Amino acid sequence: MKALILVGGFGTRLRPLTLSVPKPLVDFGNKPMILHQIEALKAIGVTEVVLAINYQPEVMMNFLKDFEAKLGIKITCSQETEPLGTAGPLALARDKLIDDSGEPFFVLNSDVISEYPLKEMIEFHKSHGGEASIMVTKVDEPSKYGVVIMEESTGQVERFVEKPKIFVGNKINAGIYLLNPSVLDHIELRPTSIEKEVFPKIAAEKKLYAMVLSGFWMDIGQPKDYITGLRLYLDSLRKQSSPLLASGTNIIGNVLVDETAKIGEGCLIGPDVAIGPGCVVESGVRLSRCTVMRGVRIKKHACVSGSIIGWHSTVGQWARAENMTILGEDVHVGDEVYSNGGVVLPHKEIKSSILKPEIVM
Ligand code: GDD
Ligand code: MG
Repeated sequence: MKALILVGGFGTRLRPLTLSVPKPLVDFGNKPMILHQIEALKAIGVTEVVLAINYQPEVMMNFLKDFEAKLGIKITCSQETEPLGTAGPLALARDKLIDDSGEPFFVLNSDVISEYPLKEMIEFHKSHGGEASIMVTKVDEPSKYGVVIMEESTGQVERFVEKPKIFVGNKINAGIYLLNPSVLDHIELRPTSIEKEVFPKIAAEKKLYAMVLSGFWMDIGQPKDYITGLRLYLDSLRKQSSPLLASGTNIIGNVLVDETAKIGEGCLIGPDVAIGPGCVVESGVRLSRCTVMRGVRIKKHACVSGSIIGWHSTVGQWARAENMTILGEDVHVGDEVYSNGGVVLPHKEIKSSILKPEIVM
């Protein structure tokens, strides 16, 4: 079985992290977002993943080469010369996706995180006999997603409305699809949207079916949702009694600490924290609801909460970063500096406090 992951787009909503790497390579729960998906696909027997890329393909492929061998899955690239949207890339990758087997293939948005019930999705797809299956989930604020109006008992989709301006329902497209090869007959090789042009058409033909996702789901393509998504992801690890979660008297709630990270005396860490490889957290530090990426140093008595600290940055002694402070790669926050929602571009030194949420260039 094959799968395509849509990894285009510039990830502007996740800047400054995406100034250093393409969005799918931004770490989430101590591994690049896209690895969560590739591992889930591998686990249900997908043998080849096609990455639909329009931006920095070398960075992505170099990185994933290692994982091809480690995970035992073929990873190939289908490169656009212009952004083809969310459907055009499927037409471009047609020959890679279709073979004699006539099997359906998965398509995933690269920035969604969930428990990926892909096995259940295959069963669902077989059972309804339609052309396409999509995973849906309920959210409180549907306007920033694709909304699905469906027949509850069968899952048949009556309407698909991308980013509706007025309320039409609260079940939204989770960005995980299983498509028959025949769906490609509806897609031309040009910039086109699967949400606006393809799904509404298949729904009108009564061949689009939706399955309600069990468990958590989040589009982690923007900082606030990324931080919420980490909480949901760690909760789900807890439910599975994952050995990855840290324990100890200095740990509160769900916390991931990479085995190569060093934690000093008298720290208090959690809930909902991920500390990446090679990090040094000095003594007396307080961390909550935050991600600390590879190679970061948090100096003595600093406090980080509700924030993301990008790769190889440092937070000074007695400094405080909170309220969705996002430090890009290699940012250095001075001793005793306070950041209230500062969004700091890579390679910067911050010597004075940032008192209200703003972008520091
Ligand atoms: N290859 C390629 N080329 N990929 C693209 C392009 C492109 O031109 N444009 C966007 N993508 C990829 C993005 O990288 C992402 O993985 C996916 O397509 C969806 O794009 P987003 O920009 O993240 O869309 P969204 O979050 O506003 O909305 C989409 O996701 C929601 C769920 O998170 C839609 O599919 C909604 O219907 C859905 O509810
Ligand atoms: Mg998105």
